[in-house]
This record gives sequence, structure tokens and C-alpha cells, in this order.
Amino acid sequence: MSREKLKIFIEKNLSDKNLVIVSNREPYIHKKFGNNFKVEKPVGGLSSALDEVLKATGGKWVAWGSGSGDRENVDGKNCISVPPSKPSYILKRVWLTPEEINNYYHGYANQVLWPLCHITLDRVYFKKKYWADYKNANRIFAHAVLSITDRKSLVWIHDYHLCLVPKILKEKKPDLTVAHFWHIPWPDYSVFRICPQFKEILEALLCNDLIGFQIPLFINNFLSCVKETLEEAEINYNNNTVSYNGHLTVLKSFPISVDFDSFDSLASAPKTSKALQTLTERYNLKNKYIGIGVDRLEYTKGLIKRLQAIDLFFEKYPKFIGTFTFIQIAVPTRMKEPYATYKLTVEVLIKKINKKYALEDWNPIIYRDIKSEHEDLVAYYRMADVGIISSIYDGMNLVAKEFVASQCEKKGVLLLSEFAGAAEELEGAILVNPYDIEEFSNCIKTALELPVKEKACRINALRRQVKENDIYRWILDVLRDITVPFLKCYYVFDNLEKIPRNNIFLFFDFDGTLTPIVSSPDKAHLSEYTRNLILRLNERYPVAIISGRALHDIKQRVNLENMIYAGNHGAEIWDGQKLVVGQQLSDSKKVLSNIIDELKNALSSVKGTIIEDKGITASIHYRMVDSRDICTLFDIIWTTAHNYKGLFKITSGKKVFEIKPHGTWNKGDAVKWICEHYGKNRVPVYLGDDTTDEDAFNAIKGKGTGISIGRSLKADYYLKTQGEVKKLLQWIENYHP
Ligand code: UDP
Ligand code: G6P
Repeated sequence: MSREKLKIFIEKNLSDKNLVIVSNREPYIHKKFGNNFKVEKPVGGLSSALDEVLKATGGKWVAWGSGSGDRENVDGKNCISVPPSKPSYILKRVWLTPEEINNYYHGYANQVLWPLCHITLDRVYFKKKYWADYKNANRIFAHAVLSITDRKSLVWIHDYHLCLVPKILKEKKPDLTVAHFWHIPWPDYSVFRICPQFKEILEALLCNDLIGFQIPLFINNFLSCVKETLEEAEINYNNNTVSYNGHLTVLKSFPISVDFDSFDSLASAPKTSKALQTLTERYNLKNKYIGIGVDRLEYTKGLIKRLQAIDLFFEKYPKFIGTFTFIQIAVPTRMKEPYATYKLTVEVLIKKINKKYALEDWNPIIYRDIKSEHEDLVAYYRMADVGIISSIYDGMNLVAKEFVASQCEKKGVLLLSEFAGAAEELEGAILVNPYDIEEFSNCIKTALELPVKEKACRINALRRQVKENDIYRWILDVLRDITVPFLKCYYVFDNLEKIPRNNIFLFFDFDGTLTPIVSSPDKAHLSEYTRNLILRLNERYPVAIISGRALHDIKQRVNLENMIYAGNHGAEIWDGQKLVVGQQLSDSKKVLSNIIDELKNALSSVKGTIIEDKGITASIHYRMVDSRDICTLFDIIWTTAHNYKGLFKITSGKKVFEIKPHGTWNKGDAVKWICEHYGKNRVPVYLGDDTTDEDAFNAIKGKGTGISIGRSLKADYYLKTQGEVKKLLQWIENYHP
């Protein structure tokens, strides 16, 4: 179903676009054996998932050519068509020297960013040359991408190896659409600041148009880092956007998934039933409970904790000695330190446990340290009574979802670390804290002894979840967000022929649109030049000023007669002569003044806060608040928002929180009403810069033209800076039909 939907979406929206995926790891590796080549697919969640993307969409993939036979299998442009069995997209390989690989990949990526993001802090190992080559390698990747992109290209970067690529791309080709998916966790600021280059990394990532994370927690952590690090960044917590250096980045969570149908049908295929029989005989598994673990041999997967829990499980519940066999498939990965030592530690522990509990014809743990293809893995998944995932921290963990999808007999139980991203979605799994070895060992027993009915019930729920949210749905969700909103907000001065000037109705937001953003709201001042320009425009077109300020305040600041003004985000409207809309509700006025009193009290220690009581609504400005006090301020605001959520809505904008009673108009309602009453048959043109203006852009979508200062999700066009407003108004004024 989702595969079909994806196909339709691609045909409709991507046929004329060039989708370019960029990742460190390539999807197909050519290895040389004598004079022959063997093509291998790497292990890891990222490449399994993305291969599906390009097989479905076509396009190009730029990645490091890591195989011994890679150079001999590309054309003059370092490209090869893949998959080799059914070529459907182009893989462009980039070359790195052994030193670059050592410093960029084994060094900065795997010894700084990976342990940092997985909060295994004593494994973070930093060297200056790691960073130097990380920058180098990112430049090499970026230039390879630039060589195959045009203005319409969509670039989709992956993971922590390539943090700096978006910045280089945007510097060279600002019109490219660039998205980044972060497959691993993002830690909060107290952890992230350990990285000596945290500021550079954040700044480069904020050149992306979209950053995807696995779960909302990682977005919150990312925002906490932005908030603490980049003072000038404007964060909008309502729609998770960050505006920095005139660029808007949207953050969104997209939990990655697997091809459910493929695992399901592979698992139930006759070939798998046969493989299952073979394995049962080979390992003497008949009438035994079976447990399965499938991982890269990776310390974040918590293999030691898992083995300790299994040891304790046998110790505490000896009836399982001889009746429960645990199969661990552990594929060697990144074979340098600390991985080499970790592998040894795991193997020593397995030997110890096997020695401790072995019987003549039975070993508690079967260990395989070679990679299995999915065709073979499904037999292990299917035969297992329990699948164990014990990550100490994990972005998602695809093995959990593969296990679920392969449970065609509906008998296996998923024991899942609560620290894996998958735990957010997979309701029906037994969640476990891998650090709590005792409880972990109890959970293994619980899982094995659950009544058959409950096992079926749990796995059915899990299967429904994974089926509905499969890899195709993930691709579709990401592509929709990459293609639709951004490509539809164009730079005004590249598209002047499309901006209407005839028979228009001009709407202006005030702060940040007609005047630059200032440190405190009372300092906003309309220049005489702009005032006169508006006056002249108003002689030819109707003009309305739509502001979050109180009506009397906005009228005074603009100080032009015979014009429409909407104050308090549209809850009060002046038609040039008299008040025509006033939505003051006496009940809410009283409650609002209580809220304001509470906030004044609670925020008295947070210096720089400005609380603006506007009668119908209120604003809390915090542009002048010291960054160290921001957390306290946010806590207070969100607690208040929670306490009054039935009556008031609290939203955030550029360094401001807005408090509005439910039911009062927003700017979109006001613009619609004004158009109906004073501008029938006119084309609305709305200029605005903040979150509250998005309602207005939305209201005139398809009927008029929304222009935002900085890229926005809802506007049709954007200006790069507030300074360009004047230029645009002059251009409108110079129109002589
Ligand atoms: N995998 C595999 N063969 C193996 C072991 C693992 O193909 O022998 C695959 C597994 O099926 C899954 C991926 O490696 O698709 C591991 O992804 P996961 O998200 O669980 O962890 P990651 O390795 O990305 O940290
Ligand atoms: C995780 C990372 C990927 C990485 C994979 C395998 O899934 O998110 O970016 O490719 O592990 O690791 P490797 O170092 O072999 O590419």
C-alpha cells in the first residue's frame, strides 16, 4: 500500500528533479579477490534503508568508495550503475586517502561524534588532525555533490559523518534544497558541548532546509543545543524551526523503518521453513526455547549487558539450563580500537558463560561473527521465542522491526531496550533497562513464559504498527517534506513577474516587516521614508496593517490616517474611522490579568523579560534575557501554558511568547474578514515575518500572494532580509499600467 503511494508521489513530484543521496557508507562495495570481484552490501541500518529509496526514486548516491575493487568498477566520472543485478540508479564514489580515512572516519566520526551522540563519554577521543581531515573529507564529498547537481536538485545527506556538507553546498549553490537525516541520537547540550567544535557543527547543520531526526526527543535536544550556543538563532517551538543567518531550517522526526512485506514474505517462504529445519538440527534446538540477538559488534548495542543478563538468568532460573539457547549474530564492524577490544571482551564473556553452563549436547550461547544476508536472517528471527535488543542508546534499531516483521508464526516476544528509538513506537514489546541486569534477566524469563495468547496479541499489535509505518512510508514522509514546502517558497527578486501589482490589497505586519527587529518592543520605530512610501501606496491601493500589538499602540506607531489597522493579532479592527471588530471577552480579561500577575511574579528573577499586557492578549519578550536564564524562563512559561491550556493558547515567535484566549481571531481570520468587507475582487498581498503571520499566509493561499522575510513554510515567496521590504515597495510603487 505505502509502496504504491510512494510510487505515485514520485511520479507526480520527482520526475523532473534530481534526487542526490550523500552518505559515508556506500550501498554496494566491490571487493577484489585475485582477478575477480565480489559485490557486497554493508551491514547497518542506513544503507539497507536508503538503497530502497533510490531503487524506488532513481537518482544518484554519492559515497566513499571503500572496497578494494571499487576503483576498477567505475567510469571516468567515478560512477557505476547499481544494483548490479538490476541497475536503477547511479552510485558516484569519492576517494579518500588512508590517512583521511583514519582521521575523518575512524577518528572524528567514530571516536568523537559517535560516542558523543550515544553518550558513552569516556570513549570520546579527540585529536586536532581528526577534525582537520573531517573538514577535508566533507569538502571532498560536497564537491562531488556539486558536480552532479543543478538548481532543481534535492540533496539528502545522511548522518554524522557529513555535518559540514550542507554549509559548503549552500555557499556554492544557495538554491539547492538540502535535507539531512540524523540516524543516531542527538544528545542535549550538557553532553554536546563536550565536542570542541560544537558551534561550527551546529552552524553548518543549520544551513540545511530540513533536518530529520528519529524521534521528537532528539529534536528537543538539538534545540537545547541551538538555544545555548547560537544566541542570534530564532527558535520557533510551535513548528520546530530555527532561523539563523537569514536561513530557515525545519526540524522534524521521521522514525525510520523496514520493508515489512519483504521480511514477512521472506520469513514465510518455503525456503525459510527449510532453513529453519536445518538450523534446528545443526544446533540441536528441537523443543528448546530460542533467543536471538542480531547486531553489529558495537558497544552501543549493549552486548556485554545482554550477556551478563543471560548469565544471571541461568543462575537464577536453572530450569532453563539445557532448555534455552541464545543465538548471537554479531557482525564485526569498524575494525579498529575500541571495537577490536570490545569484540575480544564479548568473546571471552561468551566462552565463560558457555563453560559455566554447558551440558554434553548443549551450549547456552551460539555465537556467529559473520554477516548473514536478510534471506538467511529471517530464519533466525522466525524461530526465536524472544528477540533481545539491549542498546545502551540507539537512534532507532532496525533489527527490532525486522524481528517483528519476520514473526509470521506470531510466537516471538520482543524484549527491547527503552533507550532505543524504536521503544517510542513499538507498543507490545517488553521494555527493559539494559543497565538493570537483575530486572533484565527477569524480563527474559517473563518473555519466555508469557501465555501463548498474550504473545500473539503483543506481536500482532507490533506487526500492525510496523506494517503501517514501513520504510516506504518513511521515504514518502521525508520526500514530501523535502519537496513540497521548500520548493514552493521562492525568492521574490528572482520571480518579480509573478508578484501581482494590479488591483491588489496590501497587508503589512509591523515588527520585523516594516521595521527592523529591535531589542525591546517599545524601541520599534517606523522610518519617515517607509511611512511616506506606505502613504503613497495607500493612494493607489487599500492598505491594512496587521499586528500583534494592541490597536492603539499600532495606530500610534504607524500614524497614518484613513487606513485599516488590526491589533492584538486581529482581535480588534479599525476601519480607518471606527472600531469594527472588538473581541474583548470580560471573563478572559480577568484570567489574562491573573496570568500576567503570576508571570510577573515568577519571572521577577529573570532579568530582561518584558511582559506586555495588551488587554485582549499578552506578549512575553525575551530578546534581552541572558542565555543562562533561558531554561528557567521556558520552564515557567510552559508550566503556565499547561495550567491555563483550556482557556488560553501560548505560542512562540521570534524571541517572544504570545498568550491568546482560545476563540479570538488570528491574523488569518482578520485578513479574510477585511478582504470580504473592503476588498472583494482584489488580490491580497501580505508581507510578514513571524509565526503569527503564517496564519495569514495560509488564509490567502491560492487567492493572493504571501511574502515572508526569510523562507517560510506557508508563504509563496520570501525576501532575504527586512531591508529588502523597502526595495519591494518601491518596485510596487513604480508600476504604471
Ligand atoms: N544486518 C545484516 N546482517 C547481519 C547483521 C545485521 O544485514 O548479519 C543488518 C540488520 O538486518 C539491520 C542492520 O544490519 O538492517 C542493523 O541496523 P540497526 O538499525 O539495527 O543498527 P545499526 O547497525 O544501524 O546501528
Ligand atoms: C549506523 C550509522 C550509519 C553507519 C552504520 C554502519 O547505522 O548510523 O551511518 O553506516 O551504523 O557503520 P559503518 O561505520 O560500518 O558505516
